[in-house]
Amino acid sequence: MSRVTLAESAGFCFGVKRAIEMAYAEIEKNNGEPLYSYGPLIHNKEVTNDLDKKGLHIIESLEGVDKGTVVIRSHGVGKFLYDALEEKGMKMVDGTCPFVKKIHNIVNEAWNEGKSVIIAGDGKHPEVMGINGWCGNSAIILESPEEAQAAELDTDKKYAVVVQTTFRQSKFDDMIEILKGKGLNLDISQTICSATEKRQKEAMELSRNVDKMIVIGDKKSSNTQKLVEICKKNCENTVHIETICDLVLKNFECGDKIGITAGASTPPAIIKEVVVTMSEENVKVEEMSFEQMLEESLVTLHTGDVVKGTVIQVVGEEVSVNLGFKSDGVIPRGEFSRDTTVVPSQVVKAGDEIEVFVVRVNDGDGNVLLSRKRIEEQKGMEDIEKAFNEKSVVAGTVTDVVKGGLIAIVNGVRVFIPSSQVSNRFIEDLSVFKGQELEFNIIEMDRVKRRIIGGRKALVEQEIAAKKAALFETIEAGKKIAGTVSRLTDFGAFVDLGGVDGLIHISEMSWGRISNPREVLKEGQAVEVFVLDVDKEKGKISLSLKDASMNPWTLAVEKYAVGTVVEGKVVRMVPFGAFVELEPGVDGLVHISQIANKHVVKPEDELKVGEVIKVKVLEVNSEQKKISLSKRQAEAPVEEAPAEEAPAAE
Ligand code: F3S
Repeated sequence: MSRVTLAESAGFCFGVKRAIEMAYAEIEKNNGEPLYSYGPLIHNKEVTNDLDKKGLHIIESLEGVDKGTVVIRSHGVGKFLYDALEEKGMKMVDGTCPFVKKIHNIVNEAWNEGKSVIIAGDGKHPEVMGINGWCGNSAIILESPEEAQAAELDTDKKYAVVVQTTFRQSKFDDMIEILKGKGLNLDISQTICSATEKRQKEAMELSRNVDKMIVIGDKKSSNTQKLVEICKKNCENTVHIETICDLVLKNFECGDKIGITAGASTPPAIIKEVVVTMSEENVKVEEMSFEQMLEESLVTLHTGDVVKGTVIQVVGEEVSVNLGFKSDGVIPRGEFSRDTTVVPSQVVKAGDEIEVFVVRVNDGDGNVLLSRKRIEEQKGMEDIEKAFNEKSVVAGTVTDVVKGGLIAIVNGVRVFIPSSQVSNRFIEDLSVFKGQELEFNIIEMDRVKRRIIGGRKALVEQEIAAKKAALFETIEAGKKIAGTVSRLTDFGAFVDLGGVDGLIHISEMSWGRISNPREVLKEGQAVEVFVLDVDKEKGKISLSLKDASMNPWTLAVEKYAVGTVVEGKVVRMVPFGAFVELEPGVDGLVHISQIANKHVVKPEDELKVGEVIKVKVLEVNSEQKKISLSKRQAEAPVEEAPAEEAPAAE
């Protein structure tokens, strides 16, 4: 018995399958109106004959055709046909593969922007002809690296480059290299279809590992021809057949390792027939119509199924999905994600594989109603349940601030965080959390009622405790550290040192005199502070903004030498004299007897607060922070001993 391996992606690609499904659906709906396909729907006589029998006839032009419906094949057509059908008032069923449609849009947009279009592909292929029809048939069509080399192109122009979906990647890469080498201004769109690439890669792999290779597909199909080309390079015993009738069985021997692949237009029935024959299994291939075979190859769906599909297109943020089912699925915008900020067209594109939940097999318009949101919810719910049971932490983005708390979305599931659980302290304005990703625990969960409560309080407390422990390990008196002012009071400022607050008392904010901490600091300000004291037991840290090396009293003895005359500002009056500020933090006392060369009853009689006066330094005691001053001696120096008995400044 021979060992037969069928390539996984042999046969219909999703674009072809979709167009055929659309055609059969149209035949079923038809009520006697003429029905046409513009050119053969696919390169396969078996299929086109079957369709013809059922009433879908091939036309090559609209000449003499004025009513009915025209089905467009997956290769697509130029803009002229859309216009002509509209003009004639005829109906169109657009089976253009979404990947080809995308090329039409690129080309049309580039053309409208004044760019020239280059198509890498076979100029005689209907797909390329159709693409050319979206830029007024003005495209430069290059089929090979040689043609790219020979092409006379203009370095002053802008070129939009697209490529036929079934083109060989390596050939396209070579052509791009050549075009780039000409110094052209190129806007390159990679439009080779991954279905083709996948089929070609599988054919290459398979043909390397078998004795004989069979490629099934219409002789006119370009993608089948490319498969033959690839397989022949690796396996010289490669044959190209259209149906089982072309197979010369005597060329195959018992025990041969046989690989089978098929072009994108090869129906499942033909592939099955070849596989069965080559497997030498006594399987009777039942007489089935093509439609039955196609039907057999399609999946069945039930409400509640979770299935994989391929995105066909995203229009108006509604996602169409090919499920391999007889009708396509649709994910309405509202069913795409629990997170209402998610924009479907930014998440998925045509060709992406997507997992979906079947909400209804027929939504009333013949489509399958799908939901991606439910998949998110199911997965999210499982994750949340696990986190709840294991008391582990989850992360979610805050989407709303509601009465009494926050709403966060965790893997598509809505979690309510009450305001008392947002932090370890009351937060007045919860809106600061909107849009933020937060970590929290699930503290309550009722899956049936879909009631899920999150809490961060314990987590924040744990974090603070850990930070505190780490800080107390390293902090010590005398160190200079950085922090941020977290809160101001009348008596000082609390500074966040990285999860733990320390206090700067008002007296430690300046060497000078201040009456309110707000004169020096504001909330949120970054500061560098000196650690004065650490009480690990009470968890208290005293801080200072004052740098000991800048203590003005240390320098006062030199700066204010006895006998010198300096200027100062009167800052305070007392019954026995006036205090004069020499610099911030250094005040001296002018005793009442030293104010004037006459008897002074009250200091206010001679001085005003705020007045700048000249004073002579009589005595300096930097340890006790006291300086005695004389105004009278500064103005009219007299020979007398320093006023020893005069009380010094405090
Ligand atoms: Fe098929 Fe469309 Fe790709 S027709 S080969 S899926 S471009």
